[in-house]
Amino acid sequence: MKRLNEKIAIVTGAGRGIGKETALCLAEEGAHVVVAGRHLDSLIITAEKIQKLGRQCKPMEIDISLREKAQKLIDFTLREFGRIDILVNNAGINRDAMLHKMTIEEWDEVIAINLTGTFNVLQLGAIVMRKQEYGRIINISSASWLGNIGQANYSASKAGIIGLTKTAARELAKKGVTVNAICPGFIETNMTKNVPKKVWDLMISKIPMGYVGTPRDIAHAVLFLASEEASYITGEVLNVGGGLVL
Ligand SMILES: NC(=O)c1ccc[n+]([C@@H]2O[C@H](COP(=O)([O-])OP(=O)(O)OC[C@H]3O[C@@H](n4cnc5c(N)ncnc54)[C@H](O)[C@@H]3O)[C@@H](O)[C@H]2O)c1
Repeated sequence: MKRLNEKIAIVTGAGRGIGKETALCLAEEGAHVVVAGRHLDSLIITAEKIQKLGRQCKPMEIDISLREKAQKLIDFTLREFGRIDILVNNAGINRDAMLHKMTIEEWDEVIAINLTGTFNVLQLGAIVMRKQEYGRIINISSASWLGNIGQANYSASKAGIIGLTKTAARELAKKGVTVNAICPGFIETNMTKNVPKKVWDLMISKIPMGYVGTPRDIAHAVLFLASEEASYITGEVLNVGGGLVL
């Protein structure tokens, strides 16, 4: 029997990168998945891959920073599948700049998507899970929540996700719902592909294991926290970064 047999999952930002790999990984273990994100064309590609695995998958175009869209995602999932067992808040962006050069627009955009967007989907999803008395919420934060040069907006948003995770974990602990965060280290995706060679090499030199991670490395951690084996774990922050944060 597969680990997530017939479970219903939502993954945001599932058109590429960590979100796509996570959606595939959950489906491989038996989950049906709603894949949500900004670009329908890439979501359809993810959905087709999942359907080939014999799992149901519905794509939905959404901007998580818009509350009414987040509500539509929850309503759509309930209409299609009747429940939400697993919610992976993965969608996120970066708009890096040194503090003295960062514009208020760069600040606002990152906070609106990474923090308010995660709050929107988490809050509305948690209302459903509370009633079900079952749920697994996994929020994708970042090792940068501890602070990173050029990422004041991103670090603040990802630190906010940790506070949100721990508060939600406390509030939902008696309702059968666990809430945990994963902090990826340095992972090879679109988000990191334009990092200059000098910075790339510097990052690698800071990773004790000595190499960049893959989206699969993060997907496996999500799978664990979504599984029954993790049912007594809540409010935790799991670093997945080859030892980047020790
Ligand atoms: N790649 C890394 O090294 C790394 C490290 C730490 C944390 N993370 C986090 O992992 C998550 C996934 O990032 P990734 O590396 O796969 O990057 P990515 O840019 O490849 O994927 C991000 C996804 O989020 C979607 N998205 C962006 N804004 C959205 C919005 N408003 N509404 C809905 N979807 C939206 C994008 O369309 C894209 O599919 C992000 O939260 C990121 O901050 C990544």
